[in-house]
Amino acid sequence: MTALGKLFRTTAFKLTLVYLLTFVLFAAIVLVYFAWNTRRLINEQITQTVDSETVTLQDEYDIGGIRRLIFTLDARARRPDSYLYLLTTAAGEGLAGNVGSLTAGVLERSGWTETAYRKLEDLEQTEHHALAKVVQLSGGFRMLVGRDLEERDRMHDVVIGAGRWSLAIVVILGIAGGLFVMRRVLQRVDAMTATAQTIMAGDLSGRLPIAGTNDELDRLAGNLNTMLDRIEALMRGLKEVSDNIAHDLKTPLTRLRNRCEEALRTAEDEAQYRTALEGTIEESDGLIRTFNALLMIARAESGQARDNMRDFDAAEVARGVGELYEPLADEKGLTLTIDAPAAAPVRGNRELISQALANLVDNAIKYAAPAAALLDGVRPEIRIQAASAGDHILLTVADRGPGIPAADRARVLERFVRLEQSRSQPGSGLGLSLALAVAHLHGGDLKLEDNEPGLRTVISLPRAGPVSQAVAGDLTRLQPTQAPAGGSDSQAG
Ligand SMILES: Nc1ncnc2c1ncn2[C@@H]1O[C@H](COP(=O)(O)OP(=O)(O)OP(=O)(O)O)[C@@H](O)[C@H]1O
Ligand SMILES: [Mg+2]
Repeated sequence: MTALGKLFRTTAFKLTLVYLLTFVLFAAIVLVYFAWNTRRLINEQITQTVDSETVTLQDEYDIGGIRRLIFTLDARARRPDSYLYLLTTAAGEGLAGNVGSLTAGVLERSGWTETAYRKLEDLEQTEHHALAKVVQLSGGFRMLVGRDLEERDRMHDVVIGAGRWSLAIVVILGIAGGLFVMRRVLQRVDAMTATAQTIMAGDLSGRLPIAGTNDELDRLAGNLNTMLDRIEALMRGLKEVSDNIAHDLKTPLTRLRNRCEEALRTAEDEAQYRTALEGTIEESDGLIRTFNALLMIARAESGQARDNMRDFDAAEVARGVGELYEPLADEKGLTLTIDAPAAAPVRGNRELISQALANLVDNAIKYAAPAAALLDGVRPEIRIQAASAGDHILLTVADRGPGIPAADRARVLERFVRLEQSRSQPGSGLGLSLALAVAHLHGGDLKLEDNEPGLRTVISLPRAGPVSQAVAGDLTRLQPTQAPAGGSDSQAG
């Protein structure tokens, strides 16, 4: 399609054309009305002056008879204005005036008439037009008084000429302006189409151009770009999950297989087979946990878990998680303190938020315990806190363990990242990833801070309206779990 053809097909061009036609039509009507009115006004003016002139001349006739009229007429006819005078006898013989010839039969009818005429003293004898009045005088005389119409016709021509030009200019400017605007719009739409095509071809990083004019096209492009950002993030998440599954589940699966093979090769009696099978089950449980954790992260990151949002008290959740982990902490030589005195209303997925907090407490116990074991009698504290801070609710877990060096704090939030110092502890490196995904799902954030010494992890969530007693009382108790990162089998869904 040619550029011009494309232009003619645009809705905006058709609209411009309709507006232009309507405008030209109205302009033409105004013009005709104006021209017609000018003509009428001039005619009125002429008839008035001619009428008064006729009355004056008739008075002259009444006072002084035909001689006086002839004298006055001759005197007036010599004046260099454009009045027309003619006085004839009943037979049509000219007595006085400045008219050489007239359209035939004009003098026979009394009253107003438009007539062609030639001037008496005009050597070239050019034909003129006049508006004239014929009066029958007593005694059979006829008098014609009129005024040349050249002025009126010139005026008329000027108005019509100016009108034609302005109409032409309106049309030309209208079309040129329309084409200019259309071209600009089309260029932008073309640029958008081109970007859309590269995106459809698979390059999700492309974004629609924004002109910065903040018009409807800019707003549309902005919204589509936001949508593309979201789609790109989802696609990236999907790719990461499948990459993770491909790479990080391969090792445990291989280990599982080797263990079976080893048992087949070396086991001699039932007891040895049983031990090997128990090991296999344990290994499989680990795999299932990792799978669950990955699925939960994917669910949180894709926003699917948003269906389950409701208001609840995060302080209640903090107390629940604390009570759940208290025996384990105690066993590991740690003191677990829960500091959640006031209601902390949030709106969200209670199961996911509980799991996120549980992951943080699990980390604190897991990584602070070895150091605690070396201290004789002193029981380092792990503190779980739920508090309001402005329009946010902060869920904090602070320990006195080795902490995470500032340089590693961003890295450990990624999937499967575990620090070298923690290799001796079990885990798959998904606990913090899930906590972060959950925080983001709720429009909040996860921060790792220095507890001097130790680590302080803070989940911040937007505060909801106050939780009513009925809802708070309705909260279910968190089920004990041995699988912090992604939940036990009971949390598989
Ligand atoms: N409280 C903590 N103190 C010291 N290091 C920590 C603490 N919490 C996390 N880390 C470090 O961050 C890494 C990532 O933690 P994350 O919870 O994501 O995985 P994990 O605990 O290793 O395994 P999982 O939680 O999946 O069982 C840990 O391996 C550890 O090196
Ligand atoms: Mg963990």
